[in-house]
Amino acid sequence: MRSPRRDVDSRVEIGDTVLPAPVMASSGCFGTGAELLGTVDVGLLGAVVTKSLSQEPWPGNPPPRLVPASGGGMLNSVGLQNPGVRHWVAEELPRLVQAGARVVASIWGRTREEFRDAAMTLADAAGAVEGRMVAVEVNLSCPNVEAAGDMFAHDPGRVGEVLEAVTGALGELPAWAKLSPNVPSVVAAAAAARDAGAAAVVLVNTLIAMTIDVETGRPTLGNVTGGLSGPPLRPVAVRHVHDVYAALPGLPVIGVGGVVGAEHAVELMMAGASAVQMGTAHLADPRAGIKCQRDLARWCAKRGVLRVADLTGAAHGGASR
Ligand SMILES: Cc1cc2nc3c(=O)[nH]c(=O)nc-3n(C[C@H](O)[C@H](O)[C@H](O)COP(=O)(O)O)c2cc1C
Repeated sequence: MRSPRRDVDSRVEIGDTVLPAPVMASSGCFGTGAELLGTVDVGLLGAVVTKSLSQEPWPGNPPPRLVPASGGGMLNSVGLQNPGVRHWVAEELPRLVQAGARVVASIWGRTREEFRDAAMTLADAAGAVEGRMVAVEVNLSCPNVEAAGDMFAHDPGRVGEVLEAVTGALGELPAWAKLSPNVPSVVAAAAAARDAGAAAVVLVNTLIAMTIDVETGRPTLGNVTGGLSGPPLRPVAVRHVHDVYAALPGLPVIGVGGVVGAEHAVELMMAGASAVQMGTAHLADPRAGIKCQRDLARWCAKRGVLRVADLTGAAHGGASR
């Protein structure tokens, strides 16, 4: 008997980028990618997004860096620790590609020049891996040293400047702009990213939050504040995806925030996402994304949805695009 999954076309398009499946591992929750080889068949995921990489290695924040939050959420203040983009290109990218992964390299910087330099390093590396590096994700939820440490993502003008520098360096390689939910609306930042050449926006990064240990009276994170992720973030992500899809027709949106199971991926896609990413759920189960993808195809088959991509925008009165 044929599996119901075979009847469902799981391919999704993000601008010119075609992925065979809609669920990606989000940045920071799958290591820099290569650690999980041997545990997970990374080729089954839509793509693997790496931990955000900077031009130079970065040590990150003091511990503790990860603490549980209520409602199955998590607070992290890893602080963008990474081995540097050149190390990653030399040591980890080849292993990921050899294992069959489609790779999205995430970058961050403290100035627009640092973003540009990291993008240039990746543009050089992309040619050597023959199309397996499918995009560069630009993490704009990091402090801008030229704006007293406020996040790039909080200022549409800065978002545009960074994207312009990155897209100029990348040439044909698509840039996806990952935005912060810590603003009343992400539409202006998404429009700025689009106007500067971003091929898609990734919504959302974590919400700034903190918890306190009431026995010690001290903040639980070494950095005092951190980013809230997991299920409590999901309605926030759904709302931002919904708003950007409605306001900016033609701009592909990738949804991320609180996806644990297939219904959550469906919800983000109905809000307007062309594909989804899963972060925190991978910390508990590195195969969570693959399972989600399988269950998503089953969910569609059961309801007669022949193409997963048909879910995109279904919550907007059926006006998919
Ligand atoms: C431990 C941890 C590290 C993260 N590191 C990054 C990072 O380096 N770059 C980035 O863009 N997002 C990072 N994120 C954010 C996730 O990619 C994702 O946007 C967020 O966690 C929401 O998705 P989730 O609820 O599925 O985890 C990190 C999240 C966690 C939990």
